[in-house]
Amino acid sequence: MNRVARFFVNLANARRSARLLRSLAGGFQPPLGGRFLELGAGRGGLSALLQERYRPSRLTVTDVDPRQLEAARRYLARRLGPLPPTLELRTADATALPFEDRSFDCVFAILMLHHVETKHSEFVRRPAALREIRRVLAPGGALVYADFSRVEELRRTLLDLGFAPLFAARRWPGRELAVVRAPGEAGPRAA
Ligand SMILES: C[S@@+](CC[C@H](N)C(=O)[O-])C[C@H]1O[C@@H](n2cnc3c(N)ncnc32)[C@H](O)[C@@H]1O
Repeated sequence: MNRVARFFVNLANARRSARLLRSLAGGFQPPLGGRFLELGAGRGGLSALLQERYRPSRLTVTDVDPRQLEAARRYLARRLGPLPPTLELRTADATALPFEDRSFDCVFAILMLHHVETKHSEFVRRPAALREIRRVLAPGGALVYADFSRVEELRRTLLDLGFAPLFAARRWPGRELAVVRAPGEAGPRAA
């Protein structure tokens, strides 16, 4: 992304993130104290809210663009003060995640899945990102995603990968905001 695109993409980030969590409420609550992974986090507006509201035992904030991650680091430091040791910022491409299998309870991919494509309108690299998300999610873990591009294919691919629909928000005009559950039963996990 060039500077102008980054500016516009980051502009509405904090307000949109608060609206997103309001839209989820009633249909899905991220687990308190869970292990969260945010992909394509941009400026970190959602990351800050996740940290403040759900006190995750692990919050991994990622973006493929190190400049975005730096913007997130500055924003989080302003909002939260010194970052807790459970909060990690890491450069990562959603199509090749540097994380262990089954290591997160909840993955957030908000308005970023079409960005993994060379051209936003394509649907070429997204299946690899969705497979990676399934791999790193614990059995029964949740993917929260929002997008507006090729959402039918997105839904179909998620079903093919064994994800089960859990919640789809209304009043998210022109966009899909949904939660799907990874295959398998959630079980107890080591502290
Ligand atoms: C429109 S912004 C969305 C930011 C944030 N999630 C939000 O809701 O405002 C898309 C972000 O995805 C990142 N991105 C693009 N390709 C990516 C990839 N392959 N893996 C991870 N992040 C990527 C971009 O750098 C950008 O920060």
